[in-house]
Amino acid sequence: MYLGLDLGTSSLKALLIDAAQSVVAEATAPLDVQRPRSGWSEQDATAWEGACEKAVRGLDADLSKVRAIGLAGHMHGATLVDGDDRPLRPCLLWNDTRAADEATAMDDAQARRITGNIVFPGFTAPKAEWVRRTEPEIWDRVARILLPKDYLRLWLTGEAVSEMSDAAGTAWLDVGARDWSEAMLARQGLTRDHMPRLVEGSEISARLRDELADRLGLPRGTPVAGGAGDNAAAAMGTGAVAPGQGFVSLGTSGVLFVSSAAFQPAPETAVHTFCHAVPDTWHQMGVILNCTDSLEWAARLTGRDAGALASGDLMPPGRPLFLPYLGGERTPHNDAGVRGSLLGIEHATDAAALGRAVMEGVAFALRDNLDALRGTGTPIERLLAVGGGARSETWLRMIATVLDMPLHLPRDGQFGAALGACRLAMMADGAGSDVAEAPPIDRVIEPDPDLRDAFTEGHARFKAAYAPTRTL
Ligand code: XUL
Repeated sequence: MYLGLDLGTSSLKALLIDAAQSVVAEATAPLDVQRPRSGWSEQDATAWEGACEKAVRGLDADLSKVRAIGLAGHMHGATLVDGDDRPLRPCLLWNDTRAADEATAMDDAQARRITGNIVFPGFTAPKAEWVRRTEPEIWDRVARILLPKDYLRLWLTGEAVSEMSDAAGTAWLDVGARDWSEAMLARQGLTRDHMPRLVEGSEISARLRDELADRLGLPRGTPVAGGAGDNAAAAMGTGAVAPGQGFVSLGTSGVLFVSSAAFQPAPETAVHTFCHAVPDTWHQMGVILNCTDSLEWAARLTGRDAGALASGDLMPPGRPLFLPYLGGERTPHNDAGVRGSLLGIEHATDAAALGRAVMEGVAFALRDNLDALRGTGTPIERLLAVGGGARSETWLRMIATVLDMPLHLPRDGQFGAALGACRLAMMADGAGSDVAEAPPIDRVIEPDPDLRDAFTEGHARFKAAYAPTRTL
């Protein structure tokens, strides 16, 4: 059996599968996000330890047959630990945009050449720089900086190790060479000693601590695979490994992901170019910061359920126009300072119309991402639709129409980051990459030809609204 642990933003999921990849058990433990100031987003790293223990204990199964563990987690978080491996402050999460000034200062030609990416405010290096400038008494005590799932690994195994896919989102990795960049580290007075050792996601990274193994009923010495950042892990779960295979993920953030056989950076497009979880493979993705988060916002505001807001017939775009930049945006704007807008509201605008406008705004933002991805020259052959937002048929049909691409909807079951983590555990235990096959497809959501033109026009309005609302 294989155990996948996916450290999500709002919960930690434990998934247990057998050698045939059938689900044996699953359990989750909730996590909170603290937003003490506008643009800040933090989590207490020690809460991940408790959530992990709770989720593993929640598995209704005999864990003594587990052969390997795989890890996945939300990317980019800056977890600063001292010489005793204890967190020095709450982790600054992926959607924390306080380090916008630091990111702008760091985002130069050298950084783009080495890392293949814009230095986004959400990436690890600028957030560390914010701590260096703002909290020098903490910075002086930093022994290591770890990504969230790698902090969990440190707790599980006692060893500081990362892997390529997550490390690519720090702005310290030479993404083409798959190694830490001493030049990038030196810019902040850091060295390799501050970084975890690197492995590929499908390799063994370290082994479970005896004390924890005994406490959780797992075999002593269980190998822990490198694992992956949540998007590369989801790609392993959906079988998006061969070039051109991708997915659109409708989660807290929205991601348009495609796998690629070569390192083809195009930072000017604000697309992310990262290592994949398996050797010699990369991936590119556009990321919007507020996807289902936008719908949750509209649900809170109107007192409706988000699922109810996202139902109803697919119609041509309405007059209200929503720009989903509630906490800044990554692709294509790289703009931590922008905030959302709701334009063109009228007497008839009710909760349902607001819900539609929000879904449309997110769909248009995803179209911006598709255009940015295509701008890199990377071919996109097939997209699966995954994530909580994919439960809305209306939203899926809208997004397929706006992207003008069919969306393949997997049959109910496991295909997310936790399954990807399990598959990486299988590979670390000797399996080939063919374990990462695509899930059975339930149906294909085709673009609606009758609405294509109306949504193309809607997208043009959406694009035109960014610059003027930004300068207001
Ligand atoms: C990717 C990103 C998010 C997080 C949280 O760059 O920031 O997708 O990994 O899921």
